[in-house]
Amino acid sequence: MNYKQIVTAFFLVFSLLSCSKDDGNTPVPLNALATPFASTASNVTNTSFQANWVLVPGAESYLIDVSTDNSFSTFVTGYDALSNSGSTVAISGLSPAMAYYYRIRAKRGVEVSNNSNVITVKTTGVAAEDPTFLKVKANALANPFFVGVAVKAQQLNTGSAYDVVLKNEFSSITAEYEMKMDPISTGSGTYNWVAADKIVKYGNDNGINVHAHVLVWHNAVPNWLKDFSGTDAEFALEVKKYITAVVTHFAGKVKSWDVVNEAVDDNGNMRNTVFLTKMGPNYIKDCYQWARDAANAAGDTNLLLFYNDYATSTNINKQNKVFAIVDDLKASNLIDGLGFQMHNTYLSPAKTQMEADINRAVAKGLKIHVSELDIQVNQNNDITTFTNERKLAQKDKYKEIVKIYNALPAANKYALTVWGFKDNESWIPYSTDLNHPGNDWPLLYDNNFEIKSAHTGFLEGLD
Ligand code: XIL
Repeated sequence: MNYKQIVTAFFLVFSLLSCSKDDGNTPVPLNALATPFASTASNVTNTSFQANWVLVPGAESYLIDVSTDNSFSTFVTGYDALSNSGSTVAISGLSPAMAYYYRIRAKRGVEVSNNSNVITVKTTGVAAEDPTFLKVKANALANPFFVGVAVKAQQLNTGSAYDVVLKNEFSSITAEYEMKMDPISTGSGTYNWVAADKIVKYGNDNGINVHAHVLVWHNAVPNWLKDFSGTDAEFALEVKKYITAVVTHFAGKVKSWDVVNEAVDDNGNMRNTVFLTKMGPNYIKDCYQWARDAANAAGDTNLLLFYNDYATSTNINKQNKVFAIVDDLKASNLIDGLGFQMHNTYLSPAKTQMEADINRAVAKGLKIHVSELDIQVNQNNDITTFTNERKLAQKDKYKEIVKIYNALPAANKYALTVWGFKDNESWIPYSTDLNHPGNDWPLLYDNNFEIKSAHTGFLEGLD
């Protein structure tokens, strides 16, 4: 080998060596870091678990995320990319009976792999009940009662913010309109159960009481029945057929039915409805009898039958007429409870008026349902924003009615139901039914799912 050949050979060997060795200046392409595989958690307790994963070749460390939602939009404190060099880490400081999710990334220098698969872990134990939730506080009372809310089928989507609040706060539901005659009865002997079934199933699946509303109401008569051209006796048979079908369909799935709603007018007379005109004053009793018979025939001998009406605390003529109807039904053992709608305002009714009205029903041994509570603060359209003064007045009024209800004897308690929980979902603002002239804020939550002072008032009423 001459000198030239030696130099060439030297450069050849050197350049080959420098290809296989990292000299610190030129990064050497290694294989990309593999995505780690997260394996099942171990040592699960009520406040901790051990997260496990399979090691990845070449990884120097691992990053562990733990979240309470499987999209990892937030992280459990201390577990946002927690670094660990082993194949396991103890996760602690958790809450009992809660679902947690974890995932792992591998790390080498600045290189980070993709996220692993997600592992779900449910801690053991019993969930701590938050006493600032209405139903939790009501359930803890010496004489508990259902805290109800009116719902619409389209609101009941598992996992939504609405669904979370509903399940946290309420132990009973009432359909706001989808269990009325108009939406269910599409013709003689034909029914649309879709929305009503969804509501009842939601209650049944989630351990939430279902109060059914309402079989007979002059404001929800389907056109085919309004325009019925048969005889009065045939009309009565249609009503009987409807009540029988609906009570049978939901037997064992609902705890109670409002059978007749608002049968008394504001002068204290029987309201002049198609039912009164075609069936005569005995129609109320007939409807209750048909409902009772259908329930018994379906094997539900515990169904509670309610009469439901509004403004009875302030309108004494109306109150008297309602109690005359109640007495008549009671004499035939056809009524179990009375619903007081309580579409109130921050000024009315007065405490003593509500107490006197409700106590009349207590004296008759009836179950009491405050069935549609909401409290208007702008019934005269004199405010354009929800003022602090009205907030506090509304809070006091919620507290007052809850206190009245909570003081009832155990045997008379059934449910206190609010007519929706978010202001922007209330029927009150600009309601043509009510002649409500402007905006309003009648419920317990604002439009952003934040509790209002009204909610605090409700809670204080349970003290
Ligand atoms: C109302 C609902 O809130 C509205 O959404 C619907 O359009 C009409 O009915 N008394 C009752 C309830 O018994 O059924 C009414 O609900 C409100 C007045």
